[in-house]
Amino acid sequence: MRFIDLHSHLLPGIDDGSSSIVETVEMLRIAHRRGTRGIVATPHAFQPMFATHSLVALCGAFSRMMEELTDLASYSDHSFLKEMEVHLGSENLVTPEFLQALEERKVLTLNGSRYLLVEFPLFMPFPLIESAALQILEREMIPVLAHVERYEAFHQRPECLKDLKTRGCVIQVNADSIGKGRKDENSQLAVSLASQGVLDVIASDGHDASARPPEVQSAFDRLAKELSEEKLNTWMSENPSRILANQNLESTE
Ligand SMILES: [Fe+2]
Repeated sequence: MRFIDLHSHLLPGIDDGSSSIVETVEMLRIAHRRGTRGIVATPHAFQPMFATHSLVALCGAFSRMMEELTDLASYSDHSFLKEMEVHLGSENLVTPEFLQALEERKVLTLNGSRYLLVEFPLFMPFPLIESAALQILEREMIPVLAHVERYEAFHQRPECLKDLKTRGCVIQVNADSIGKGRKDENSQLAVSLASQGVLDVIASDGHDASARPPEVQSAFDRLAKELSEEKLNTWMSENPSRILANQNLESTE
């Protein structure tokens, strides 16, 4: 399968992801080896600890990275780079600053589509999560809820995710919550959402080339024991491709 990974921190020197172009290349090498052929750099935006609110700065950093990757791809030991499609997006923390930027439409969607990747403070109560999602939908954008398995609100009330999905939100789960064989609450929720089909996208959220690499193959391997390849293809290739092309998604419920 040709995986498309919608969520990664590939852009070097911007947030808590890649520290240099060397590390970015190693992250892409791992992704390629593990079957990924399309990947989106989604640097943290509106995180107070990273100064990444400026769309101009993020676009400039992405252009510089792409120039360097294009140069490196001409060397034989980096020729795999020619097979990788790299796109730009952002992972937006829901804060008052983000909501203001949303109002002004100064947010960076996934590959310029109407799909916007968002994350929340871990203990944000459900009504505030819901309100932010609705504000995004009202602006004719589609919220892609990053790593939903992490939030306290959904540990307590997982049925709320089905409701958000019905209202038009896209549900994203992190591959390492499924593929690492952990037994914690996040992993249990991620696996149970997969079993029930209450998700749309599995992505890596890769941050580096060691502890949190950008790979989704391990989640595929675990889920393939129980679920059809057709479902996995929808979550790990078809739906991510449709998002990048600004198309509607397939449902697996
Ligand atoms: Fe992330």
